[in-house]
Amino acid sequence: MKLWGGRFSKDSDPLMEDFHSSIFFDQRLYQEDIRGSIAHASMLGRQGIIQEKEAEAIIRGLEGILEDISLGKVEFSLGAEDIHMNVEAILTERIGDVAKKLHTGRSRNDQVATDLKLYALKEGAALQELLEELIEALSSLGEEHLETIMPGYTHLQKAQPITLGHHLLAYGEMFRRDWGRVADACRRADVMPLGSGALAGTTFPLDREYAASLLGFREITRNSLDGVSDRDYVVELLSAMSLIMVHLSRLSEEIILWSSDEFRFISLDDAYSTGSSIMPQKKNPDVAELVRGKSGRVFGHLMGSLTMLKGLPLAYNKDMQEDKEAFFDALDTVKKSLLIYPPMLLTMKVNREVMARGAAGGFTNATDAADYLAKKGLPFREAHEVIGKMVAHALEQGKALEEFTLAEFQAFSPLFQEDIYEAISLLTCVNGRKVPGGPATDRVLEHVRELKNWLKEARDGRNRR
Ligand code: ARG
Repeated sequence: MKLWGGRFSKDSDPLMEDFHSSIFFDQRLYQEDIRGSIAHASMLGRQGIIQEKEAEAIIRGLEGILEDISLGKVEFSLGAEDIHMNVEAILTERIGDVAKKLHTGRSRNDQVATDLKLYALKEGAALQELLEELIEALSSLGEEHLETIMPGYTHLQKAQPITLGHHLLAYGEMFRRDWGRVADACRRADVMPLGSGALAGTTFPLDREYAASLLGFREITRNSLDGVSDRDYVVELLSAMSLIMVHLSRLSEEIILWSSDEFRFISLDDAYSTGSSIMPQKKNPDVAELVRGKSGRVFGHLMGSLTMLKGLPLAYNKDMQEDKEAFFDALDTVKKSLLIYPPMLLTMKVNREVMARGAAGGFTNATDAADYLAKKGLPFREAHEVIGKMVAHALEQGKALEEFTLAEFQAFSPLFQEDIYEAISLLTCVNGRKVPGGPATDRVLEHVRELKNWLKEARDGRNRR
C-alpha cells in the first residue's frame, strides 16, 4: 500500500514504479531527510500540534533509522519511491501508528526542498575545503618557484619572461574567486523552506523560526510558492562548479603541454601517470586529461538544470526531481578533480633549466629592449619599430638580442649603451616588473603572503555544518 494510496484503486505498473522512483539516487539525502524530520517533529511537539511524548517516540525512531542506514543495515524499497517515503515507511514499521503523525503540516515538496538545501550547504562547504587545499598547494609552489624563470605566452607564442611562481598564482586567484562564488551561493541558499507545505503553507500553527534554528538555517523563506519551487541554489552551485572545471581544465591543458617532449618543462610523478599497452616508452598525463574531459559533463549538468527549470509553472513539478542526479554527479566529478590535483602538482618535477632556456629563446626580452630606448627618451612607438627591425635581423643571423655586440646595437640606435645587456637579462626583465600584480620576485612573494593570510581567514570563517 502506497503512503498516498487512499484515492487509488489500482497498483502502479512496475514500469511506472521504475520510471518515477528516485530512491536509487536520493537515498544520498538520508541524513538531511532525517535531520529535517527530527526538527519538524520536535517543533510539532513543542507547539502542541502532536503530543510531546509522540514527538519523542518519533525522534527516537528516526535516530535509530539514521544509525541503521549509516551502518548499511537498511534496505530501501523501490515501491516507497523516494527517501522521504522510505524513511516514513520504515518508521511506521518500527514504531507503529504514531509515525503517521510525523507528516502533519508538511509536504514532500517542502521536505525535499529543505533536504536538498541542507545537502547543498554541506557540499558547498566541502567544495570550499577542497579549494582551500588546492590554493594552499599553489601558494606553496608559488613560493618555491619565485625565481624559476619561464616564458610567458600569448597566442601560445613566447611573449615575455615570467616565473613559474607568478604563473601558478594566477590559478590561485581563479580558485579564490571560485571559493567566493560558492560562499555567495551558500549564503543565498541558507534560507529554510520547511513550512511551505505543498505550495500554500499550512493551517497548523508551525513555529518555522524554531525549526530553522534547529537546522542551523539563517532565515526562513518568505513565500511558500517560492519556497517549494526554488532551485536557484542548485543552478548557482552548478555554475560555480562549472567555473571551477574551466579553471582546472585550463591548468590541465598547461600540464599536458608542459609534460610533452616538445616542452619538457615538467615531469609528472609516476603515481599520477599511466603507461601505454603497446608503446613501452609512454607516460601519459591522464589526471589532467580526465579533468579536462570531465569538465564537459559538469557544464552539461548546468545546462540541463537550467533547461529543466525554465518552463515550469509554479509551484512544484515532478520535473524537479531531475535536479538531483545532475547535482550529485557534478559534485562527485568536481570534488574528485579537486582532490587529486594538489598531490599531482606537489609531486611534479620542474625542469628549471629547460624552462629558463625556453624563456631565453623567442625574443622574450624584446619589450624590455624597446622599454630601454623609451626610457632614454625615444617615443615607445619608435622604439618598438627599432627593436622590430633588430629582431628581423637577429632572425636572419640566427641569434638572440643579447648576442649583438654593442657596435651592432648602436648601428640600430645611438641610444644603446653598455647597460643594455643588464637591461635585457632575463632576471632584470622579470624583476623590473615591480608593478603591483607583476612577476617581480618581491611582488609575487607579497602575493603568496597575502594569499596565505586569506586562506587562514577563509578557513576560520567557512560555514561549518
Ligand atoms: N522525489 C521527489 C523529488 O525529488 C520528492 C517530492 C515529490 N513530491 C510530489 N508531490 N510528488 O522531487
